[in-house]
Amino acid sequence: MEKEKHLLKHVQALTKIGIALSAEKDINNFFKLVLDEAIRFTNADGGTIYTLSEDKRALDFKIICTISTNLRLGMADTAKWPSVPLYDDKENKLFKNFASYVAHTGEATSVKDAYNQDIFDNSGTKKYDRNNNYHSKSMAAIPMKDHENELLGVIQLINALDEEGKIINFNEKHITMLTSLASQAAIAFTNKNLIEGLENLLYQFIKSIAGAIDRKSKYTGGHIKRVATLSEMLSQKIQKDKGYYKDLAFSNDELQEISIAGWMHDVGKITTPIYVRDKAKKLETIFDRVELINTRFDLVRTIILKDISCLKNNSTKEDLEKLLKQLEADREFIIKANTGGEFMKDEDLERIDMIFQYKYSSNGNDYFLITENEKINLSIRRGTLLPEEFDKMREHAVVTHEMLGELTFPKKFRNVPRYASSHHEKLNGKGYPFQLDADQMPLQSRIIAIADLYEALTASDRPYKKGKTLTETLRIMALMVKDGEIDANLLDLLIDSGLYLEYAKKFLKHQQIDDVDIEKIKAMYH
Ligand SMILES: [Fe+2]
Ligand SMILES: [Fe+2]
Repeated sequence: MEKEKHLLKHVQALTKIGIALSAEKDINNFFKLVLDEAIRFTNADGGTIYTLSEDKRALDFKIICTISTNLRLGMADTAKWPSVPLYDDKENKLFKNFASYVAHTGEATSVKDAYNQDIFDNSGTKKYDRNNNYHSKSMAAIPMKDHENELLGVIQLINALDEEGKIINFNEKHITMLTSLASQAAIAFTNKNLIEGLENLLYQFIKSIAGAIDRKSKYTGGHIKRVATLSEMLSQKIQKDKGYYKDLAFSNDELQEISIAGWMHDVGKITTPIYVRDKAKKLETIFDRVELINTRFDLVRTIILKDISCLKNNSTKEDLEKLLKQLEADREFIIKANTGGEFMKDEDLERIDMIFQYKYSSNGNDYFLITENEKINLSIRRGTLLPEEFDKMREHAVVTHEMLGELTFPKKFRNVPRYASSHHEKLNGKGYPFQLDADQMPLQSRIIAIADLYEALTASDRPYKKGKTLTETLRIMALMVKDGEIDANLLDLLIDSGLYLEYAKKFLKHQQIDDVDIEKIKAMYH
């Protein structure tokens, strides 16, 4: 009966530890929990946890605790400690240390007196004792092994104490319990490693896709990376903010969720045709058709010149020369209209139509200058995109939503599709793709939206515009706040925290970094 009771207590203790271990997210706390439990159960004076190094050739110190000397070192302190080697240069196994001995034998082992035993070389222990004014006597060490019996690390305990504080041996009960604890810890540690490995893989995969999308465009290379970086920087500033966001703190998972959403925000661009995404000139398809038009102008010019020389075509020399002059003026006008840099006025569109209608006839042949499709493209009033190309461009936000919606993210990242796909939404409901309004836009979406905007305005690698200066950029953003499009508090944070400049110094050309009159900018929207 007594034995059963004891067993029950043992199982209960282990279950409790098992639950605590699998719930503990921080690896440092995790090791602390394991060691505290091992010390508590054996009433030892201290202990150490080692894990197998990445190259599997040594044991790394993770955590050390000695109650009587009030010593407690966590991973941050032990990182500088030299690891315990498991092999020498000639690949011989080293048994110079109790932990390395147990690591090699794979057996839970205890010794009554570290100074009087012949199973391991105790010079290391003696040296430690000398340096720390300590005396190691009874010792126990248990290997932590995973489900494939691979060594993960070693839990080592020193000086088991009786109720009066006298050093006693580690007994069989201790070893049994420690073995169960080590096995629990090993399972939890393996799970943690697996989860961490999968999360790393997820991150690497996400970044590699983002990199591929960035590289696909010859102009916007680095956009996604910069937006993700700025989103991360913004959320860090929120953490530290002592003003409007002082009561807000993102958890580590939430910070990671924002970062992933930042990296994924333009994943839908994978389906945007490159001739739309990179359409630098109005006449651009897979090449700039202005060259075709140039050839046509050249042809008409040559024919007019020929006609001048023989004055055939029933025209006077003056007429033809005037025509030639007009032709060159029109050519220049078309080249300028093709750039998409300026707004096209009504008379510009009329002139394009006249050039489209124009035909030069000579020797029974008709020569035209631009086709109907070229006319339509040249008549784009602002920018270089036709309405249907604009729609195609905007489609990427829906595609982002759909693509990410098809993925089963871990629960803690479940909002990634929502945050990522709403970066073109506006607080006043005039954005796309879903015309969300302020109530439907969480802070995380607003962060990515403002990061996307700041990057886009300041980027100097876009097809048809130069990167704006800081003043120009912040003025536009101030106006957008005034129009109810973006978050005023986030723009405040971008400015007040100095992030606008911090980012600029990292990514902008020095000629873009001008002296911003902050008061003037703020007065625009406050
Ligand atoms: Fe986008
Ligand atoms: Fe973007």
